[in-house]
Amino acid sequence: MNKTLVIIKPDGVERSLVGRIVSRFEDRGFKIATGRFETISNELAQKHYGEHADKPFFGELVTFITRSPSFVFVLEGPEDTWSIVRSMMGKTNPLDSPCGTIRGDFATEIAENIVHGSDSAESARREIGIFFPDFKLD
Ligand code: RTP
Ligand code: MG
Repeated sequence: MNKTLVIIKPDGVERSLVGRIVSRFEDRGFKIATGRFETISNELAQKHYGEHADKPFFGELVTFITRSPSFVFVLEGPEDTWSIVRSMMGKTNPLDSPCGTIRGDFATEIAENIVHGSDSAESARREIGIFFPDFKLD
């Protein structure tokens, strides 16, 4: 699987960080296969983050991800691109993320951590299917 789903979350778009974040991925050698700005609906948010439905932070997470436009895109690179993207993102909590990672450089709060990336090849397939149902995955 050489593609993954990335979301620059509402905080990243609000703070005008889209260009700088996309540049990091392009500098690394990845291509944007497709993408768009989208205010994620409640329904889509619940589906995308369905694995967290039972967690105490789920309500806050859905409210946050739906509050204003995100930049949602499919990133294409070598095999296991999802894994490289996750390492470029840093840890879920920005305070645990080293400088040089996106979250380590641009965020301080776990609830507003700038970027989402699929966490496995299976997640990448599922999430690309949710946001880009017409996208052809080979
Ligand atoms: P993402 O799915 O957004 O790429 O983030 P992730 O894999 O690093 O983290 P995940 O466990 O999937 O959690 C999804 C988002 O929920 C928020 N969260 N809050 N308060 C908490 O303990 C907590 N844990 C997770 C974060 O905003 C995280 O990105
Ligand atoms: Mg996750």
